[in-house]
Parts: sequence; C-alpha cells; structure tokens
Amino acid sequence: MQTQPLDMQSFISNMPKAELHVHLEGTLEPELSFALAAKNNIPLEFDTPEQLIAAYDFHDLPSFLKIYYAGMNVLINQEDFYQLTFDYLTKAASENIVYVELFFDPQAHTSRGVSFETIITGIHKAQLDAEDALGIRSQLIMCFLRELSAESAMEHLKLAMPYLPWLVGVGLDSNEKDNPPAKFAEVFAKARALDLKLTMHCDVNQLDTLTNIKQCLDDIQVDRIDHGVNALQDPALLKKIQQQQMGLTVCPVSNRFVVQSLTSKEVRQMLEQNILVTINSDDPAYFRAYLNENFIELQREGQFSTQDIVTMVENAFKVAWLKDSEINQYLAQVSQYARHVLKPSPTAHA
Ligand code: HPA
Ligand code: ZN
Repeated sequence: MQTQPLDMQSFISNMPKAELHVHLEGTLEPELSFALAAKNNIPLEFDTPEQLIAAYDFHDLPSFLKIYYAGMNVLINQEDFYQLTFDYLTKAASENIVYVELFFDPQAHTSRGVSFETIITGIHKAQLDAEDALGIRSQLIMCFLRELSAESAMEHLKLAMPYLPWLVGVGLDSNEKDNPPAKFAEVFAKARALDLKLTMHCDVNQLDTLTNIKQCLDDIQVDRIDHGVNALQDPALLKKIQQQQMGLTVCPVSNRFVVQSLTSKEVRQMLEQNILVTINSDDPAYFRAYLNENFIELQREGQFSTQDIVTMVENAFKVAWLKDSEINQYLAQVSQYARHVLKPSPTAHA
C-alpha cells in the first residue's frame, strides 16, 4: 500500500469549509461596484475596474479603511445589498464553503442615509435564497464601528431589535487606535442579555493590542476574538484563550498588508499550543484572495501538513455559533472528506 500523491491545492479547495471572519462590504468586487455606480448614478474616481484595483494600496489599517469606506458608497437600495450578499455567497459556495458567519457594518450605511431596514432586508433575503439555491448556510454578525460613539452603537442595537432572529451576534471593527473594547462595555452587555454572541477585532500589531485583548477576555467576556495574533506575546493571555477554548479568526492575506508575512509562524505556534486558530479572508475583494487562496498561500509559506489543514478547518466548525448537533454534522463531513481523499491506495503490486 502507498498513499496517493496529493495535490495540496485541490485538497484545500475541495474540502468542506467554514468562514467566520468576512466583512460583507469587503466582498464588493470592482465589477459590481461599477455596475451599481452606473445604476445609482454615482460618480467613481476611476474609469475601469482595473484602474480601481490598481489604486488598492494598503499598508496599514487606516489606509485600508479609507478605500473600504469610499467603496461602499455605491450601495443604496435593498437590491444592492441583496446582490452583494448573493454574489459573495455564490463565490463562497464555489469554494466549497458550506457555512459562513458574515459581518456587516450598518453604521457605514445609515450615516449615508440608507435605512437599517433596507440594509438588513436585502442581506437576509439573499441569505435565504443562497441557502435554497446553493445549499450554503450563513448567519449574520452586526459590527459596530469603534471610532463612532458608544451611543451610536447602542442606537443601532435598538434599530436591530425587530430583526434579532436574523442576527447571531455582534462584533466590533474599524479603527482600533484609542477605541478600546471597554468603550463598548454597555452595548455588548446588552447584546449578551439579548442572547447574541460577542466578538471583537484585535487586529495584528495595533497600538495597545495586548490591553485590548485582555479587556475582551476579562471585561467584555467575548465568545471569540477576530485576529488576536498578538496574544502569542503574552503567556497569561494565551493560557486564558486556550483554557476557554476560544476561537481566533486569523486572516493571513489581510495580515500580509500590515506585517509583510502571512503570519504562518504564529499560526504554527497556535496549533502547537492547542489554540483554536481558524483561517479566514477578511475583505477578499480588496485583498484579492478568497478563503481557498488564504489557505493555499498560508500552506505554502508555513509548509503545513494535510492534518494541520484539517485541524484548522475543524477548528472553524468547533467555534462556529451553531448547535452542537449541527457542529458535529459538519465535523463528520470534514472527517469523511479527509478519510476519503487521504485513504491509502493499493499499488499495482500489492
Ligand atoms: N479590521 C478592522 N476593521 C475592518 C476590517 C479589518 O480587517 N475590515 C473591515 N473593517
Ligand atoms: Zn476583519
């Protein structure tokens, strides 16, 4: 008997996967941006999608956020949010992603005069249709923008009250500098009381990131941390994350814009220390890499084994905000896939 030669790229691409850290507005492809701009009569600074892509020049979080917010001005009507969501879920399904937890940033739209109802209804309808048509399941996480006030976050939680069954949790994203988790303690406590799950961004190499991670764990008592890579620098934080079996949603290609590496060494350290590290795409239309590409590039940089890849995919399902019975079904799908693909094959002389 010998094991079949393995094409790592197909192994990753064909595996059933979950994505837990993807910003819906970060999936806005330049082609859709141009189509919506034409439909809604919104002038763009560029003449072609290629020119727009050429202007994607990110080297840190603020330089990314500037382009990200400018991009979403083309989203006006319910159909625009529907199209954005349906297009992303179609792409995700084509990558064999079977389950997604999707962030959206309502304040970035209500501040432009788009109603909360328009945003969430368009997204929700697309989620239902994508599940029907493509079999991909998704749940929605409402993010608050951390540079805006805690009062604005609370107002948006109130706007969401009629739609609570459409949300699985709340998150915190955007500009981290001088906007620590504690600023949002009250709104996150209220969200918890409403049975929503809690997560917050602690982006790689941000100022005061260890203090912010500590606040997430001790004060806010989050259920997950988005990014959180710097926790490796503090053994006490890492131990808590490990003991609480908390998921970290790492985004390799996104990290590369900030630290010039896919953080594969850090991912390896997390695996070695039994941290539930997961791999995600963050803002795939802007970073020009969806989930499979994130896994494939990470595997190349860090020379991860097939077992490492399986572990990271399993981790995502383990920390997904689903019932245990649903998680177990997905885990069974992954192990069946791995068993089937990795099974030893008899040689001609066996
Ligand atoms: N970090 C913080 N805020 C964001 C991001 C991110 O990667 N993407 C969209 N909003
Ligand atoms: Zn993010």
